[in-house]
Amino acid sequence: MNHAQDFTVTPYAVEGEVDYDRLLDRFGADALTDEQLSRFPQPPHPLLRRRVFYAGRDVDRFTEAANEGGTASVVTGRGPSGPMHLGHILPFYFAKWLQEETGAYVYVPLSDDEKYFAKDLTFDEIREATRDNVRDLLAVGFDPERTRIVVDTADADVIYPLAAEFAKDVTPATVEATYGEPPNVGLSFYPAIQATHLLLPQLVHGRHPTTVPIAVDQDPHVRLARDIAGKRRHDVEKPGALLSKFLPRLGGGGGKMSTSDEEPSVLLTDDREAVREKVMKYAYSGGRADVEEHREKGGDPDVDVAYQLLFYFFEEDDATVERLAREYRDGELLTGELKEYAAERIADFLATHQSRRPDGDVSEAVAPYRLTEEERGRLRPDVF
Ligand code: TRP
Repeated sequence: MNHAQDFTVTPYAVEGEVDYDRLLDRFGADALTDEQLSRFPQPPHPLLRRRVFYAGRDVDRFTEAANEGGTASVVTGRGPSGPMHLGHILPFYFAKWLQEETGAYVYVPLSDDEKYFAKDLTFDEIREATRDNVRDLLAVGFDPERTRIVVDTADADVIYPLAAEFAKDVTPATVEATYGEPPNVGLSFYPAIQATHLLLPQLVHGRHPTTVPIAVDQDPHVRLARDIAGKRRHDVEKPGALLSKFLPRLGGGGGKMSTSDEEPSVLLTDDREAVREKVMKYAYSGGRADVEEHREKGGDPDVDVAYQLLFYFFEEDDATVERLAREYRDGELLTGELKEYAAERIADFLATHQSRRPDGDVSEAVAPYRLTEEERGRLRPDVF
């Protein structure tokens, strides 16, 4: 971490206690206004109305196109380095909501190359994770007519020529300033690949507004893609973004939930018992030291991870969320009770998710979501 700063946020490192508002100043993104929120389909998804998505770029262009029945698209991807946990899947459920409500195209790129460059994993391991993650992405229930899943190394015929074109506008100095010093030349090239992801819907369907709903640490990729879009291609407009806070880790604190840390995270494949055990044992509590003190003084929902999980996503009903916060503050609701409730809601969500997760041949299941030959033709340069 840089000494002049008390927190660092790049796509490859999140350190310190993140100040989400100051981060917007640093990144040059805008807080989401009430007026912007009112232009989303009503009622807005809980992640929006509770301001988990709290900021953005060019949000109005996207909602305008969506509301006027114009072409609009959503890009949100996944770096397949291992099994997915709760925090990973939220942007995809959000993208699905946008698709249902607005008819937007959804593009889901998987950056297997990026994870190979960034992690100590073999390509075999990454490909295993890719197939596994694709099952979870399919379980979200996207419309196959309007959704494309691309994998960097499997769809390299269309991705590489575009990335090569864009890479020419990215200097090593920009990469270093945006991401920190890359550990290998793979990662110094990768920003051109992610820029390709963000521009892909426009290159397939013509110029139109795109939004990228992602955790705020990915915003540097959006900035870079916007620079590129402004420079080289006149057939694309700058992609916009919807930026979210991090889903709190079970152990609490302001960092991002991560599979690589010591404490476990809730995996999408966990059963009810596993969810319950992890939440009861590891979820950071905003409650008091013992029941007596809790009854007397009350707990603090703002730091309580079980409450935060319900607030972020797992309790859709606003009145219930408010009631839980009130009863917790009043000492009426105990930590154990709140955790039990959160564990049940998460387990219910996962049971539905898992019931839609295809088993069997993943290449067959994903086939309706891959780029068609005709779409590839539009993207691929004509050499021979
Ligand atoms: N880089 C992202 C990650 O590490 C994954 C990703 C690839 C992505 N392409 C994307 C995210 C496009 C959003 C949009 O998680």
